[in-house]
Amino acid sequence: MPVNAKIVSVSTAPPIAPPIEKPSMVTIGIKAFRQACTKITLDSESPLFEPKIRLGVLASGNGSNFEYIIKSIQNNQLNAEISILIVNNPDCLAIKKAIKYKIPYVIINHRDCQTRLEHDMLVLKKLEDLSVELIVMAGWMRIAGEELINRYINRLINIHPSLLPSFKGINAIQQAIDERVTITGCTVHYVKKEVDSGSIIIQAAVPIQEHDNKETLTKRIQQMEHIILPLAIAKVAMNIRTGFRGNK
Ligand code: GRF
Repeated sequence: MPVNAKIVSVSTAPPIAPPIEKPSMVTIGIKAFRQACTKITLDSESPLFEPKIRLGVLASGNGSNFEYIIKSIQNNQLNAEISILIVNNPDCLAIKKAIKYKIPYVIINHRDCQTRLEHDMLVLKKLEDLSVELIVMAGWMRIAGEELINRYINRLINIHPSLLPSFKGINAIQQAIDERVTITGCTVHYVKKEVDSGSIIIQAAVPIQEHDNKETLTKRIQQMEHIILPLAIAKVAMNIRTGFRGNK
């Protein structure tokens, strides 16, 4: 063999692949998440709509999501106005929030109606009389009937305390705890006939910690809800104003 010939070693073993780097998961606190979302909405080039999108909010409970919609509007993070709050439960705390922020509200008590359709039609009439463009079910403990859904296709949204399609229906947070999942969250979605089933608009994940109980987990999920619901409203408002019809 000539002295300067190359010695090539041949091996049948496969080449050694570089170690695969695991993607690192970054978890940030709620405060940082809120700041990031605020920055996104303030920096975004979303057009400011004139007239503003007219919202009808439906609520049955504490109204904390309703309050955060109001705050987002006040902070100029959401270019919308609330035409009406409709509640079905005369004792719900959402009413107090409407009074506090001087938002018009009406109680349409389902117990005063003979049928679900009758209640739905009263709700619908109120919304249409006020030319509401987008309905937000923010803790509305009623199943939306077909009349409402069909008249507001792509303009009726709901917030649910789980990462849909997991844990539909009532007690979603307890369902997640009982199933021992490690991550749950919240979802804003379009409403269709099947409960908690329409296209997803935005979701946020919330890890379940070992010491969590229903109360602690509910609190953290709701903090996320208060951030993502205004973002989802902004997104749907944009779709409505630009005539986008891509969702179910
Ligand atoms: C929220 O957790 C929402 O996901 C569920 O009902 C709850 C309403 O809370 N649909 P609030 O009345 O907005 O405080």
